[in-house]
Amino acid sequence: MQVPAAVLTHLKKSWDAHLAELQELVRIPSVSADPAYKADVARAAQWLMARLQRAGLENIKLVPTKGNPAVVADWLHAGPKAKTLLVYGHYDVQPAKKADGWKYEPFEARVADGRIWGRGTTDDKGQLYCHLLAAEAWLKTTGKLPVNLKFVFEGEEEIGSLNYGDVLTNTKGALKADLLIVSDSPMHGEGQPALTHTLRGLDYFQVDVTGPKSDLHSGTFGGILWNPNEALVHMLAQLKDPKTGRVLVPGFYDDVVPATKAERARLATVAESDAALKKQTGVDALWGETGWTSYERIGVRPTLEINGIYGGYTGEGAKTVIPAHAHAKVSCRLVADQDPKTIAKLVQKHLTSLAKPGTKVKVTVLSAGSGVRADPDHPLVKAVERALEATWGKKPVLIPEGGSIPPVADMQKRLGVVPILCGFGNRDENMHAPEESFRLSSFEKGREACARIYGELGA
Ligand code: BES
Ligand code: MN
Ligand code: MN
Repeated sequence: MQVPAAVLTHLKKSWDAHLAELQELVRIPSVSADPAYKADVARAAQWLMARLQRAGLENIKLVPTKGNPAVVADWLHAGPKAKTLLVYGHYDVQPAKKADGWKYEPFEARVADGRIWGRGTTDDKGQLYCHLLAAEAWLKTTGKLPVNLKFVFEGEEEIGSLNYGDVLTNTKGALKADLLIVSDSPMHGEGQPALTHTLRGLDYFQVDVTGPKSDLHSGTFGGILWNPNEALVHMLAQLKDPKTGRVLVPGFYDDVVPATKAERARLATVAESDAALKKQTGVDALWGETGWTSYERIGVRPTLEINGIYGGYTGEGAKTVIPAHAHAKVSCRLVADQDPKTIAKLVQKHLTSLAKPGTKVKVTVLSAGSGVRADPDHPLVKAVERALEATWGKKPVLIPEGGSIPPVADMQKRLGVVPILCGFGNRDENMHAPEESFRLSSFEKGREACARIYGELGA
């Protein structure tokens, strides 16, 4: 179905208001990682509920979980033959403070240089807001939507969606739909629309090594026992082969189905160049698993990273000490074929087996989420593709993404929905980093794309 001109006109003439509203939402620091922001997380959820109400959505509810609540709403009057679309987004954001390297306050939501700047602008408030505004435009101008529409906005995505199971349980099947759309990823460069057909899964571990009963004088006791810091770095050094870049956890690759020749050839046509990746990261040499290109290493290969290491004396000057304990944060990005629970067990077993005499190793799984493989040829996905092409005047490209959105696989499994990732962000919009932003042009076009998606799905 074509989008009635009135819908698009409504979006155009509401631009100033829509931008001001997004600023309002960004100004609520709904940081899920830090309990100090609990009230702001709740406030963001309330803000969305009120806005959904005003937009004409129905059955607006706060779904409680053991952690932060989700916001759900729907509009289900498109008729018995109409398709049902579920839109997922997350209203929680990563932590941010000015001192991390922001020019202005991260929750100021400043508009400058064609972008809105602030934590959560592209990840994911700006993107989820496109959907809400598109639904409103249809409802306000035509009195209806061409699809049955359901929204679920989560409040714990940035901390691993640990309680998303509660959202699915407590909504008792009410989120069932034909298609699931998630707009929480980048396009393929400015003005180039993209559909993302794979996401990686994520296992996250806390590694704790304990040794002597207290910190020790390194002169009095140095040389007679394993120093937990040294034990830890020896263990960590055995997680990846420095020559081949392969993860050395036994069984890690067992379930990985290697990308086919045809898929690799296609990936090469959309791949970002090493030069571009060097520029984005600021390093003068890239490195990774032998036999795969950089783009493949991000998109279709699993990997392991040490996110943080701490232990012993880290203050000013020198202190001679053997620490009582040492710690690391380790994570694995997984491909869709790998079961996060299985891999978590393998990593735990491997790390524990590497313990040095006189030390104890504890490996705790902080989160485990599956990767996603979507079907780009599904007729409903084709409808989304048409909508993106109509909006940007360019055929969308199909790209893999290295990031993770664990609830997507959960919903695929538990609700039987067909998932597709259709993002309006850009890779240079600094998700999780200082100076996060969202292009105003993406916000503007994103609203239009959503309105067209609903129209195409109603065809
Ligand atoms: N929006 C991102 C996921 C993403 C990143 C998709 C890059 C595509 C490209 C999401 O908000 C996110 O940051 N996810 C976390 C998940 C983790 C906390 C379980 C991630 O990928 O680290
Ligand atoms: Mn996100
Ligand atoms: Mn994120």
